[in-house]
Amino acid sequence: MRLGAWVCAADSYLHAPAASVADEARVLDMSDATALTQLIEKVHPTIIVPEIEAIATEVLADAANKGIIVAASSRAIEICMDRERLRTLAAEQLGLPTTPYRFVGSEEEMRRAVHEIGTPCVTKPVMSSSGHGQSIIKFADDYVIADAWEIAQNERRAAREDEVSRVIVEAFAPIDYELTLLTVSSTAGVVCCAPIGQRQEKGDYRESWQPAYMPNPDILSQAEHIARTMVEGLVELAKKDGEQCLGVFGVELFVLTDGSVLFNEVSPRPHDTGMVTLASQNFSEFALHARALLGVPITADTVALRRPDTVWASRPLITEGYGRVAFTGIEKALSVPTADLRIFGKPYVHGHRRMGVALASGDHAFEARQRTAKIINSLETIHL
Ligand SMILES: Nc1ncnc2c1ncn2[C@@H]1O[C@H](COP(=O)(O)OP(=O)(O)OP(=O)(O)O)[C@@H](O)[C@H]1O
Ligand SMILES: [Mg+2]
Repeated sequence: MRLGAWVCAADSYLHAPAASVADEARVLDMSDATALTQLIEKVHPTIIVPEIEAIATEVLADAANKGIIVAASSRAIEICMDRERLRTLAAEQLGLPTTPYRFVGSEEEMRRAVHEIGTPCVTKPVMSSSGHGQSIIKFADDYVIADAWEIAQNERRAAREDEVSRVIVEAFAPIDYELTLLTVSSTAGVVCCAPIGQRQEKGDYRESWQPAYMPNPDILSQAEHIARTMVEGLVELAKKDGEQCLGVFGVELFVLTDGSVLFNEVSPRPHDTGMVTLASQNFSEFALHARALLGVPITADTVALRRPDTVWASRPLITEGYGRVAFTGIEKALSVPTADLRIFGKPYVHGHRRMGVALASGDHAFEARQRTAKIINSLETIHL
């Protein structure tokens, strides 16, 4: 909108955050192919920017066939939402290092895979996000494996209720730390942003900071090589379909205790850990996504950090409970040095929900992270 585009925001509920800042808002279930087709026919968009994974991908492929630009590309969306297609592309076609893995379609196959991969190992349904449906298997015990199979089936995302989900069984990686490399594909080629450090809990992001401290240049160059190869691979595939494949990708990497780097997965859109770029970069991951999609060339200069010798941090504001909520203590929160805050304005909570994000900077990551913790601790949730 800042660059003059007309924007229609679509979400599954009324008064979603983006709806309050768009020209027009629509409410629909985006996994419903008919509803999504009707929306596209009514709105006639030039560009479709999917922000969630649970979307009727066949409708997006159809839109791309009709010449609508789909971010990043209709194929990239299909591949990245499916761990099996993504892992096969990464490890078997692009030759990227990953944890050893097997894909299984039954509890019996899972038992065999756990024995082959060894313990500890991690199981995840092929379609899920934010840690849903994941288990860590520490002992190859039949009951433990049966449990992991159940959890994967119950918490998976699937088109139909009765569908059996395939599951990835992968070795538990000896992770030293995790990184996200936001990688931008634009008309100027592929470029990586400064590395983002992060802390995950139960498969969910709890804080991130940029730039991550990486004194060993070899680790950064391995990470950038993996991110580039992955995004360039997706661009190549899109070109075969006659699409461009533009936008921001969040490439998730594991840095192991021995200094090697593994590819984990990639989001074909801005990444939650990348919210730190709202403060750290001249152009946030969202601004970069929009620019890339509008055909603006994105270079190393465009993705530069605002300042040298500064580290920025972000920490989500997570609320538990049910119903409408509001927050007090904003004046205290914003008195923390360098503090900034975005309250998303989601109309209600159901269970555990990210309701905003705290941002701050410091001379080093520890200082910036302490500040975001102070911001979050200054806020009080009122259940209305
Ligand atoms: N093989 C593994 N070894 C060790 N830790 C792992 C492994 N796989 C996943 N994890 C941990 O769980 C987190 C979430 O895993 P992953 O990114 O594969 O799942 P996800 O459900 O797609 O999560 P999200 O949507 O939040 O990115 C990782 O960031 C990491 O902390
Ligand atoms: Mg992940």
